[in-house]
Amino acid sequence: MAPRTVDLRSDTLTHPTQAMRDAMFKARVGDDVYGEDPTVNELQEMAAEMMGKEAALLVPTGTMGNLTAILAHCERGAEILVGDEAHIYVYEAGGASALGGVAYHVIPNSPNGELPLPALQRAVRPIDQHAARTQLCCIENTHNRCGGAVLSLQYLASLKKWADTRSLPIHMDGARVFNAAASLDVPVSEIAKHVTTIQFCLSKGLAAPIGSMVAGPRDFIDKVHRWRKMLGGGMRQAGVIAAPGMIAMTDMAKRLHEDHRNAKLLAEGLSEIEGIVIDKTCVHSNIVLFVLSPSDLSEDEFLAGLQQQHVRMIQFGPRMIRAVTHWQISQADIDITIAAVASVIKQGRTSGLMSAIKHLGLTSNGYGGPAR
Ligand SMILES: Cc1ncc(COP(=O)(O)O)c(C=O)c1O
Repeated sequence: MAPRTVDLRSDTLTHPTQAMRDAMFKARVGDDVYGEDPTVNELQEMAAEMMGKEAALLVPTGTMGNLTAILAHCERGAEILVGDEAHIYVYEAGGASALGGVAYHVIPNSPNGELPLPALQRAVRPIDQHAARTQLCCIENTHNRCGGAVLSLQYLASLKKWADTRSLPIHMDGARVFNAAASLDVPVSEIAKHVTTIQFCLSKGLAAPIGSMVAGPRDFIDKVHRWRKMLGGGMRQAGVIAAPGMIAMTDMAKRLHEDHRNAKLLAEGLSEIEGIVIDKTCVHSNIVLFVLSPSDLSEDEFLAGLQQQHVRMIQFGPRMIRAVTHWQISQADIDITIAAVASVIKQGRTSGLMSAIKHLGLTSNGYGGPAR
């Protein structure tokens, strides 16, 4: 039998738990386009209550959740304030612009995932016939490209105060907001209360096979519903998706601190390997970013070497590698991963030395001169 792979590429790779599979099997269903799926309705009520919002809607993906939210907030020709490292800006195919005529006003993210208030202040357009209308501020929590950074409650409170004085709504891409809540050890509503609307994913670290939720004021959710329909996201017997979604928000959310502990253990282990650059104090949730220091080992060679040892990660930028912990990664897997990284780096150094030796026509005994 092939050895099991320790797959740290993403928490989206998680398979549904047995309890989720059982719940899917037994789910009561109806036609959700008619609003008649009891399990979807239950999930939506549960999501709204957990987020402390009036209403919530199930959508197929986080990308559709963010897109429908932006379209519901903004009119054509509007501008949204968004971070340069935000998933909405980097990975969502420019959807708000292509489909909603909404422009992205991009602000550099701080390394801790924040959008600094002075930069936001400068970016807000004046009320003037020449200017686009600034209609939304988008933040991300936890912040994927900022290494799973968790926005502090103090920052969120100050952002809300700033936005309220300008009547500017805030949308949170909270794909991993339950990780943020676990990291801060607060109910998720303590985070969501600082934003007007939120999107969160059931299908990442929470292990549901599919689904995201959008939550906010009822009239906003009505608009999101219409956009979801227009985008072809109306679903029929979606109770089979909603049933595992409820387990995701309850049982699976409760165990996320285990993934955070494993991420910290991984970062600590990696920090002891020569050839890896990592700030282990920056790991606050389930995402670990590290840099391969200059060596003969390319990113592809490093990842291929790891894969040979049945460990997988992904490249996340020049010399930057990302590993994400989740419920299918145990503490023993972290030990396996640290040993695999150490061995790949060591092999890389040896083979790099060997190719340098060959290239220079040196002998491997280190004395130089033609090989005998
Ligand atoms: C921060 C963030 N937002 C949104 C999404 C989009 O989710 P989906 O893949 O379900 O469209 C992701 C996906 O990885 C994400 O990491």
